Amino acid sequence: MGTSAGTSDQIERLRAEGLAALAASRNESDLLDAKGRFFGKKGAISEILKGIGSLSVEERKVVGSEANRARAELESVFEERLASIREQERVAREGLDRLDVTLPGRCQVPGHRHPISQTMADIISVFRRLGFSVQGGPDVEKDYYNFEALNFPPEHPARDMQDTFYVESDAGDLVLRTHTSPIQIRTMERMRPPVRIIAPGAVYRSDSDITHSPMFHQVEGLAVDRNITMADLKGLLTEFCRMTFGPGKPLRFRPSFFPFTEPSAEVDIQCVICGGGGCRVCKNSGWLEILGAGMVDPAVFGFVDYDPEEFSGFAFGMGVERIAMLRHGISDIRLFFENDIRFLSQF
Ligand code: DAH
Repeated sequence: MGTSAGTSDQIERLRAEGLAALAASRNESDLLDAKGRFFGKKGAISEILKGIGSLSVEERKVVGSEANRARAELESVFEERLASIREQERVAREGLDRLDVTLPGRCQVPGHRHPISQTMADIISVFRRLGFSVQGGPDVEKDYYNFEALNFPPEHPARDMQDTFYVESDAGDLVLRTHTSPIQIRTMERMRPPVRIIAPGAVYRSDSDITHSPMFHQVEGLAVDRNITMADLKGLLTEFCRMTFGPGKPLRFRPSFFPFTEPSAEVDIQCVICGGGGCRVCKNSGWLEILGAGMVDPAVFGFVDYDPEEFSGFAFGMGVERIAMLRHGISDIRLFFENDIRFLSQF
């Protein structure tokens, strides 16, 4: 061993190499290996201390305290690294980096169907159980299906009953369908009697206030067979109302006019808000209109080649928003389409 200055340099180098070896250790055995080489019982620093006897008293003091300080520092870093490596290994072993079972659970808030879709699905389910199948048709409809084949002649004032959106097109006269009734015609073109279908869908009219939206939904119904009468219509709609609004809600058929039914009726249900006593919602009449209906006009059968001597049928069309508003006591139709989650999440 040389001078104390050379020995001090050596201790300093061993201290730095020892720290680097500890820092580079990835597991317990790396750490133990570093300890063995640098500051364990037979490590390089201990060897220096063992050789200290050959130095002068002065040198012994300096080298002894430097070596002990270096060893103590390395020892303490060793303990720290050992604890942290053991903790990492425990976390990995127990999968705690992925799952802390002591944390409160993260609750999943499921979405749900829009109240209009719910009401639509409920209406469809009632009619399915009553033996009706579901048909569809295009939202952009030919004038022929929306009006003409439903016995609205061109220029007929009945067309003004509905504020139609016309679509510019080279493909002929197109409209956004103003009702689901065109699906009656499309269905009868495809099928021979017996026909028992409903047709749900969006419809469009240029109209907007607290009870009208330019887009809303209807469910159309059509039954054609031999010997179908108005009593069948009345029985079906009575059952529909019982299943939708509960028992004991009287229905009222009022004479009305639609070009595609004869006779035609508008059907009212006893006010679900006041029970018939009269209130703001039913405008004190005790009744609420829920749909239009009637016996299929023989002129309509003419458009689809059904023989009106052989077959008869009934049809009806109801507004889905109307029914949802009555079921939930909602007074402004526009709430359905504002997408305010505070409103929608109530249903
Ligand atoms: N399409 C009519 C409307 O939107 C409703 C309607 C009335 C449909 C009578 C029918 C019916 O099938 O028979 O105002």
